[in-house]
Amino acid sequence: MQHLLSMNELSALDIQAFFSKAKKIKYGEEQWSAPNAFAANIFLEPSTRTKNSFYIAEKRLGIDVIDVNGADSSLTKGESLRDTLKTLESIGVKLAVLRQSEEGILSELTENLDLSIINAGDGIGEHPTQCLLDLFTISEEFRSFEGLKVTIAGDVKHSRVARSNAFALKKLGAQVSFVAPDAWKDSALGDSYITMDEAVERSDVLMLLRVQCERHEEPAEYEDYLSTYGLTNAREARMKHGSIILHPAPVNRGVEIDSALVECPRSRIFQQMKNGVVVRMAIIQTLLQEECVNVTAYKEC
Ligand code: CP
Repeated sequence: MQHLLSMNELSALDIQAFFSKAKKIKYGEEQWSAPNAFAANIFLEPSTRTKNSFYIAEKRLGIDVIDVNGADSSLTKGESLRDTLKTLESIGVKLAVLRQSEEGILSELTENLDLSIINAGDGIGEHPTQCLLDLFTISEEFRSFEGLKVTIAGDVKHSRVARSNAFALKKLGAQVSFVAPDAWKDSALGDSYITMDEAVERSDVLMLLRVQCERHEEPAEYEDYLSTYGLTNAREARMKHGSIILHPAPVNRGVEIDSALVECPRSRIFQQMKNGVVVRMAIIQTLLQEECVNVTAYKEC
């Protein structure tokens, strides 16, 4: 595997292999490093979790990290993203972690490119590393995905997290439902829409989504959002025994979820972030290990 662009490209076995590697890293059973490798983190959209989690994952793997952002790179002079990647390849970068706002352009960027690209979010397209850390967090709680009832709730239409998770969860055998206002439904993900009241009573996993204001063509009204589509304290009290709450964050407290529930016993929101580091280490290791294992010389890695 050279790149990680979409969850659609991974089989159930690939996903399980990432979990297995992440688990070994988490419990100190696997140590691998690529001390002569360089990674470029190219974040052209804002990020707190993904960018810093990748930075820590890379540093823990001994990788040197270059930060490329939209404001002070030659992208501001009109250089294309493709030429930016070819430049990084030319100077010896082996991994590019890329967040940018256009969906559907990544496979063109990877043509004839001798470095690995990880999609760290492409507009409303996909967010595969968020998905893998979400699924890893679920796998720590439940024995199997087969028949697991997962509801993805919120701004489904504009959410790359929803898309990646819907693809992968179905592949793993979970029963996936959605909750969304009509304007934020995405028919491409199926028609299994239910109400939030139904969701809290049936779900093993309730995956809340951030309202993606920055991607809305029309400004939305949020006053009634929590009471109609969000997780209120009253609804949380009706959730199934053993069920968990996920949210990719950042969280709009009081919009998608009552503020007190962000850190309630059922919430795995900060556990997701914690798992993000080991899952990203596992992904980087998988992509780089064939070319960087046991390498000490600059030219080889
Ligand atoms: N979940 C997530 O992608 O968060 P950031 O936008 O902070 O990276």
